[in-house]
Amino acid sequence: MRSLQFIRRGQPIALANVPPDRTLLQVLREDLGHTGTKEGCGEGDCGACTVVVGEAADGRMTYRAINACICLAHSVDGKALWTSEDLALDPLIQPAKGTGPGGDLHPVQQALVDHHASQCGFCTPGFVMSLFALYQNQVCRGQPVTREQAVRDLSGNLCRCTGYRPILDAAQQMHTLPRMQVDETELLQKMELLAQGHKAPKADLTYISPTTLDALLAARTAHPQAQLVAGCTDAGLWVTKQHRQFGQVLDVTRVAELRQITEAADHTAIGAAVRLQDAFDALVQRRPQLHTFATRFAGLPVRNAGTLGGNIANGSPIGDSMPLLIALRARVVLASPRGERTLALEDLYTGYRQNVLAPDEVLARILVPHPAHNELLRAYKVSKRFDDDISAVCLVLCLHLEDGAVRAASIGAGGVAAVPARARQAEDALTGQSWNETAVQQAAQALQTEFTPLSDMRASSAYRRTVLARLVQRFWLESLGHTEVSLESFRLEESA
Ligand SMILES: Cc1cc2nc3c(=O)[nH]c(=O)nc-3n(C[C@H](O)[C@H](O)[C@H](O)COP(=O)(O)OP(=O)(O)OC[C@H]3O[C@@H](n4cnc5c(N)ncnc54)[C@H](O)[C@@H]3O)c2cc1C
Ligand code: FES
Ligand code: FES
Repeated sequence: MRSLQFIRRGQPIALANVPPDRTLLQVLREDLGHTGTKEGCGEGDCGACTVVVGEAADGRMTYRAINACICLAHSVDGKALWTSEDLALDPLIQPAKGTGPGGDLHPVQQALVDHHASQCGFCTPGFVMSLFALYQNQVCRGQPVTREQAVRDLSGNLCRCTGYRPILDAAQQMHTLPRMQVDETELLQKMELLAQGHKAPKADLTYISPTTLDALLAARTAHPQAQLVAGCTDAGLWVTKQHRQFGQVLDVTRVAELRQITEAADHTAIGAAVRLQDAFDALVQRRPQLHTFATRFAGLPVRNAGTLGGNIANGSPIGDSMPLLIALRARVVLASPRGERTLALEDLYTGYRQNVLAPDEVLARILVPHPAHNELLRAYKVSKRFDDDISAVCLVLCLHLEDGAVRAASIGAGGVAAVPARARQAEDALTGQSWNETAVQQAAQALQTEFTPLSDMRASSAYRRTVLARLVQRFWLESLGHTEVSLESFRLEESA
């Protein structure tokens, strides 16, 4: 089994013989005996297991809060790791120049104490870590923490007893305490030394983590039985919930070509291993109206670990990025030792969680066309909770309007079929028509008959069909400038 090294409390930690499917939480709690990091759900939902991973990028550190319960331990190899037990013990966390000595607690912890932001305390280590990442990324860079940002950064942490107000108050007050921050210069040196000293023995191929696309494709061909993983926010649950064992893992997240976002004249190319948070940031930069939709994909720790390529390759019919990308007419590039091929995203899928990827192929990047100047776009996610919930229905509508008529329509839908789907009948009902209520009604009717959604624990089939039609009406009203839409005022002829 391969060894694993990372920096913790300013020191390299070396662990021998770590199985490829051992989770980071198992390593912390069971192998190291550090039980401060809690286990609640074991599936990325509650945030009790949140830890912070530090990575060096372009000579500076980035800090990401992630869920240790579904993260494979080897994925933190060569990185820096903090748990709630480390903040007061890490010699690299020091008072900032010009401030007085820090207290016994890190400012994040002290702010939570000051605001009475913990009752039973089970969730608290997770909140501390999400706040620590926010503190490092925001407060230590001189930026204030807004309420909206605090809500976003704590979207993956559940508290069942305290209530969120005091926790959010603490988030907004932590900057008022004497500043403590990671000595990044020293940490970067330590990480560099770790990288130089740590060469994985070539013979050990239980956890393969290539850094180039060529090496990834060679490994995929040489080890077809290896479990391909990216951020493990789907695959991690196969280990923790289905007790599957991965004898060999092929991790795509260090492949340089797959981590890039590049801008071309007519599209943005997003590497398959780009983290969801970064991918959505790039999409929102071009289309600011996607901001809310982007924040409703899981919670921040899942978006910090999961990748856009993982979402697409996993192909869940209730996944959120696919309806969006289908509506944006995105194409996917698949790579194998035989070369590359490009296809429309909707053509990737052949059935429930099945796709056209050959055994030696990987998803390399996603090409997202830039918005046309007359693009009308809305993305709707309907779920039981606002934060960190899976869609019952996801509908994304994109129209190109010219002189009051619909020149082109593309509509992506999730939660309505066995695969993420393109709503071609509804598109046909709109294309070439004047953009008016009659066309809207026809598109709504088409959407209702085009799909036969399932009934499941998230929603009934009838509810899903009704919601699809209502969302088209909402889209119409929003296109007229209405921002507060009461669907009660609408009379829709329901299909039988
Ligand atoms: C708490 C929680 C909330 C979630 N909420 C949402 C949500 O709101 N919306 C939503 O859509 N999803 C949600 N998910 C699902 C998950 O986060 C996404 O599907 C995520 O994008 C998966 O990416 P990953 O990098 O973690 O993939 P992994 O879990 O590592 O892999 C998933 C699959 O994709 C394959 N794969 C990965 N990369 C490639 C590649 N480059 N080429 C070929 N195959 C590849 C793997 O082999 C595997 O079969 C949630 C998950 C959790 C745990
Ligand atoms: S234990 Fe609940 S998110 Fe990890
Ligand atoms: S303090 Fe009890 S769950 Fe948050």
